[in-house]
Amino acid sequence: MCGIVGVCGQGNGVPKVVAGLEKSLYRGYDSVGIAVLTPSGIEVRKDVGKVQDVEQKAGLSALEGNVAIGHNRWATTGKVSKENAHPHLDCTGKIAVVHNGIIENFETLKAALIAEGHTFASETDTEVIAHLIEKHAAAGFTGACRAAFALLTGRNAFVALHAGSPILVGARRGSPLIVGIGHGETFIASDVPAFLEQTRDVMYLDDDEMVVIGDRPVFSTPDGRPVEKRVVTIDIDPAQAEKGSYPYFLIKEIMEQKDTISRAINQPDQELLAIADRINRAYGTFFTGCGTAGKVCMAAEYLFSAIAKKHVNYVVSSEFPSYREFLTPKTLVVAISQSGETADLLDAVEAAKKQGAAIFSLVNVEGSSLNRLSDWSFLINAGPEKAVASTKATTSQLALVTLLAYACAGRLAEGKRLLLDVEEQINDLLNPRYEAHIKKLAIQLKTAKSIYLIGRGANYPVALEGAIKIMEVARIHAQGFAGGELKHGPLALIFDRTPCIVFVANDATRDHILSNAMEVKARGGRIIGVSPQNNPVFDDWIRVPDAGDASPIVNIIPIQLLAYYLGILQGFDPDYCANLSKSITVR
Ligand code: M6R
Repeated sequence: MCGIVGVCGQGNGVPKVVAGLEKSLYRGYDSVGIAVLTPSGIEVRKDVGKVQDVEQKAGLSALEGNVAIGHNRWATTGKVSKENAHPHLDCTGKIAVVHNGIIENFETLKAALIAEGHTFASETDTEVIAHLIEKHAAAGFTGACRAAFALLTGRNAFVALHAGSPILVGARRGSPLIVGIGHGETFIASDVPAFLEQTRDVMYLDDDEMVVIGDRPVFSTPDGRPVEKRVVTIDIDPAQAEKGSYPYFLIKEIMEQKDTISRAINQPDQELLAIADRINRAYGTFFTGCGTAGKVCMAAEYLFSAIAKKHVNYVVSSEFPSYREFLTPKTLVVAISQSGETADLLDAVEAAKKQGAAIFSLVNVEGSSLNRLSDWSFLINAGPEKAVASTKATTSQLALVTLLAYACAGRLAEGKRLLLDVEEQINDLLNPRYEAHIKKLAIQLKTAKSIYLIGRGANYPVALEGAIKIMEVARIHAQGFAGGELKHGPLALIFDRTPCIVFVANDATRDHILSNAMEVKARGGRIIGVSPQNNPVFDDWIRVPDAGDASPIVNIIPIQLLAYYLGILQGFDPDYCANLSKSITVR
C-alpha cells in the first residue's frame, strides 16, 4: 500500500521515477504525484487516478530534474482527492515529502503545528512530516528530517526532498524502504520492481534507520550514528516482473502455476527436516497470516492433522494479540506472507518475539521485513507476484505447508513425489479447453448477486479463499462456509438458482459435503461441483485432478480462473482490485 519511488543522480530522473511508479502501481492506485528539484525550486505534479491517467491530466513526464520523488497512493488518512495526493509540501513550498504508512499521532502533531502558525493544504497525516521538517529547519535539512522522524509514531517510511539540497533523505520504521544502486544514480523505493530495470543491486534499510542519498547512500540511526550496509544482488530477472504475452498479470500468474509448485518445494531436505523437527518438538505451533495467506495457515491446521496427526493452531494475524499469553520460548510461530510486509503480520511476529517464541516464515519477497525478522525463512520462489489478487503465491505456500506436514510425518520423499505429480496435473489442467469451460461458466454467473462456496476439512479454507478471489477481482458478493454450517443459518440465503460452488475431495469428507450440496439443491440452488468425478447433484462440473492431500492446491486454481473471467466480464481491470492494495502496511 502506497508506493514510494525516488532517484538522485546525474541525468534527468523523471522518466525513471514515472516508470518506477508504473511498475509499482499494485501498491496503490488512488492518486499519483511527483516532485522534482528544478533550478527554480521544487515542482510538483499530482492528481487522482493511475499513472497513465495522471500523466495525461498533469503531464508528469514534462518535468525535468536529476533529483525526484514519486508516489502511488492507497488512501488511508483523507479521501481520494488531488489535494490529498502525495507529494506534500511545507508552508514555504521548499520541502516535499512522500510517505507510506500511518502516523498514529498525527492529529496531536497537526494541532500543535497549526497552533504554531503552519497552514495545511490536505487532510493527510503525511503533511505533518513536511511541516515538522520546516519547523526544525535550523538543524539543516538532514537534521530536520531526523527531528521529524523522531516525533512520528506508527509504522512509517518517508522520503523527503529539499529545494536547497540535491539529496534525498529517507527514513524507515515498520514500512519498507530499499535503496537501489544504479550507474551514476541511486534509487529509493518501497519495493524492488520500481527500479528493477535499472539495477538489481540493493541495500535494505532496517527499522529505525535513515539514509541520505547524495553521491552515494549514507545510512545512519535516527540519532546520526553511522550504519554499515552491504549490497545484495537480487535474483530476479526483470522480465519475470512483466506481463509478457499475457493481457494481465493475473492470468499470467495463474498460468505460472504450471511450474511454481516445484520451485516452492525446492528446499534442502536437511532444512525441511530441521524445521519439521522444530514443529514436532514445539510446545505449541501457531500459523499466522492475513487474507489469502491466512487461509493457507488455516489449511495448515487440517493438513497437519490429516498428514502428520499433529495439532497446530491457526490465528489470523490481526487477532494475534489475544493469543499472546499462550506464547513461551518453546512456542514456534509460522508466519506466511507473499509480500513479507503486511503490518498486522509483522505486529504478530514482533509480539511473538517479545514472548521469546521462535519465528519461521514462508515468504515470497526476498529481503522483506518478515524474511529478515525470522529466525528461519523459506523463500517460496514464486517470482514477482504483481496482480493484487494472490494466486501463484497461494498455491506455492500451500505446497510448502503440505510438504512440511509430510516431513513432520517422516514421509518427506512421499510428499515431494505427490507435489511434483500435482504440478504435472496442473500442467495438463491449464489448457485452452479448460479455460474456455471456465469462461463459459463465468458468462452464466456474471449477473449473480451472490455466490456461495462450501468445503469441508482442508477444503473449507479453500471455500473461504475462493470467496476472497471472486469478491476482490469481480466485485460480486461471495461467501465461503464450512459445508456443515449451512443448515445453521446460511441456507436461508439460497433462492432459485443461487450459485453454490462445492469442493468435493476424495477423502473422509466426501459423503458429507455431497449431502450439503443436496441440501442446497433441494432449496433451488445451482450446484457447481469442483471435484475429480462428476456427480448427479452437480448442475455444473469443474473437473480437477485427484490430488489426495494436495486437493486444496488443485481446487483453488479453477476458482482463480473463474474470478479472473468474472472480473473481465464485469469490465474491471483484474490486476487492480477496487479499494485494495497488494501490500497492506497499515494496521
Ligand atoms: O503479502 P501478504 O501475503 O502478507 O498479504 C496478505 C493479504 O493482504 C493478501 O493475501 C490479500 O488478502 C490478497 N488481496 C488476496 O488476494
